[in-house]
Amino acid sequence: MGARLKPAAIEQIVTAGNLHVRRHHMATRMPQFPKDRVAGLIDAIVKADGPTGEEKGPAFTEGAARDGRLLVGTKGMGCVNCHGAAGAKSLGMPSVDLTVQYERLRWPWFRQLMLDPAKANPGTRMPGFWTDGNIIYKDVAGGTVEGQIAAIWAYLSLGRSMAPPAGVRPEGAGMELIAIDDPIIHRTFMAEVGPRAITVGFPDNLNIAFDANTVRLAKAWRGRFFDAKGMWEGRGGTANGPLGTDVINMPPGPAIAVLDSPDAPWPRAKDRNDRNVGGAFRGYRLDKKQQPIFMYRLGTVEVEEQPLPVLKENGVGLARRFALSAKGEPPSPGLYCLLAAGAKIERGSAAGEWRVDDKVTVRLKAPDDPKPVVREKDGTKQLVLPVNFDPEGKATFAVETSW
Ligand code: HEC
Repeated sequence: MGARLKPAAIEQIVTAGNLHVRRHHMATRMPQFPKDRVAGLIDAIVKADGPTGEEKGPAFTEGAARDGRLLVGTKGMGCVNCHGAAGAKSLGMPSVDLTVQYERLRWPWFRQLMLDPAKANPGTRMPGFWTDGNIIYKDVAGGTVEGQIAAIWAYLSLGRSMAPPAGVRPEGAGMELIAIDDPIIHRTFMAEVGPRAITVGFPDNLNIAFDANTVRLAKAWRGRFFDAKGMWEGRGGTANGPLGTDVINMPPGPAIAVLDSPDAPWPRAKDRNDRNVGGAFRGYRLDKKQQPIFMYRLGTVEVEEQPLPVLKENGVGLARRFALSAKGEPPSPGLYCLLAAGAKIERGSAAGEWRVDDKVTVRLKAPDDPKPVVREKDGTKQLVLPVNFDPEGKATFAVETSW
């Protein structure tokens, strides 16, 4: 058990019952023991039975995590035939859930299990997947055994924020929309966003809602996307909110605005019927991966805003890419982007990084050396970027938000 489980996981399993995976074929439940009684024993197990190889696993990359998700689902090696994942049950044999395995297992043991299940876990019914080094999915994760094992590990490292693999449906899914291969774009009534919401669910477990009424990105959230059932209930007008967790609301008002002076109030909708506060909405177009790019016009400036998922170890965040193009003279006096608002805004640990309300990190990526300012307005702090146009009348920058 020492070689198999991370020391922190042993402690959780023995003293708190967390991270303990239910084995459905066993009638027995494991009891929990008080920490002060077993601390010495846990130490002894860890000392006596250490990792069987280099403990540090392969480095995380977005590509690996996506390849891993493919391999785990039914379009790959079909681990979900026997293992539940991301809140969904397995398709057949109810073996242990994969969502918590990264938190539980040590990398060298996991790697060994993948290479030869019967050797690492004697008596297991888990089959081998690369028998005699044979590779079935040659285009995935470099087409090597090590690359594919590392990819599955990267996917598992997303933990509870992992997107469901192909083939499974979370329990009680009903009319839930689930993006597996391509993003789902769903126009709907949405609570707090309004009657002209354009919601997007990305396969990476990030979801956003754009309000085409006021013309602004309104919300982002992780996990499950949206339940379309509201459209079918009663007279079809039940406005549902996000299905998932970790919802963040963008500051009220649009992202981009022309201000008369650097400390003019930021515009916002006066009431529910106040439309086009953020400009004239011109719809969206799709990039090669079917990901929408929202388009709107603000005076003489055409704005393209693309919300995208950024995968990081332990979760997914939001990147917003802005591409602005001024037709004729750039707007005067000035055009600004509202990067964040909150009760407290402080510089983060890296350059170009800010912490908002000790909860959200905002990272600005721009070609020049942009200088956003923190200002106090309407009872909140606002992080505002003055946008500079190049001689061709273009400006591009990206804002990454993690929470
Ligand atoms: C035919 C069914 C089956 C398939 C397919 C399968 N497994 Fe398993 N797996 C099992 C069984 C059975 C166990 C042992 C569970 C136990 O100890 O109770 C297991 C154990 C594991 C464990 C160890 C869990 C623990 O804590 O002991 C991991 C990790 C795992 N499998 C990952 C995978 C991955 C990744 C895939 C796909 C590449 C996969 N499995 C495919 C049946 C399967």
